[in-house]
Amino acid sequence: MRLFLAIKLSKPMKDALIGAQNEFYDRGVRGSYTSEENLHLTLAFIGEYPDPEAVLEALADVSYAPFALSLEGLGCFGDLWWAGMRPSPPLTALARKIRYALAQGNIPFDRKRFSPHITLLRRARGDMPGLEMGEASMIVEAFSLLRSDRGRNGMIYTELGQILAEDSHIAHI
Ligand code: 2AM
Repeated sequence: MRLFLAIKLSKPMKDALIGAQNEFYDRGVRGSYTSEENLHLTLAFIGEYPDPEAVLEALADVSYAPFALSLEGLGCFGDLWWAGMRPSPPLTALARKIRYALAQGNIPFDRKRFSPHITLLRRARGDMPGLEMGEASMIVEAFSLLRSDRGRNGMIYTELGQILAEDSHIAHI
């Protein structure tokens, strides 16, 4: 199965992202838009791996406090358009801890540099200049192990487990 680790987004965060997608569409941008339920922030991509329990076990000791995540800016990798995140040391630290734990557990993962983004659409046709991203923030209190399957109408993501933050304190926005 194809596995990855990601932060599931709050409703207000998704609303802001959908607002941006709607604005793109209204301005004539066409492509394959990410559906609301599929919007997420990937922390690490494992890819084909048969044992989700081993992944959860490898991550059992990843410890982090809840932290704030805020949208900031838009960007693209070729014709893949994404929403960016305000630079966040706790986010970078969490991705680093996860990748370290995966490596320690001999779980394979894509070692490309972590560049936090939320994919809004793929195969975009249109112009990005002049488009803007609305504001939204959320508190991250968990991240998820997700399985990705190709469905009839796009990808289907299924949550297989969650790794919760320790509730020592809540970061304020
Ligand atoms: P993307 O949105 O930029 O394509 C599930 O495929 C998630 O894992 C997506 O968020 C995808 O990012 C991310 N991902 C990271 N590295 C990947 C890779 N090498 N192949 C496929 N997806 C990858």
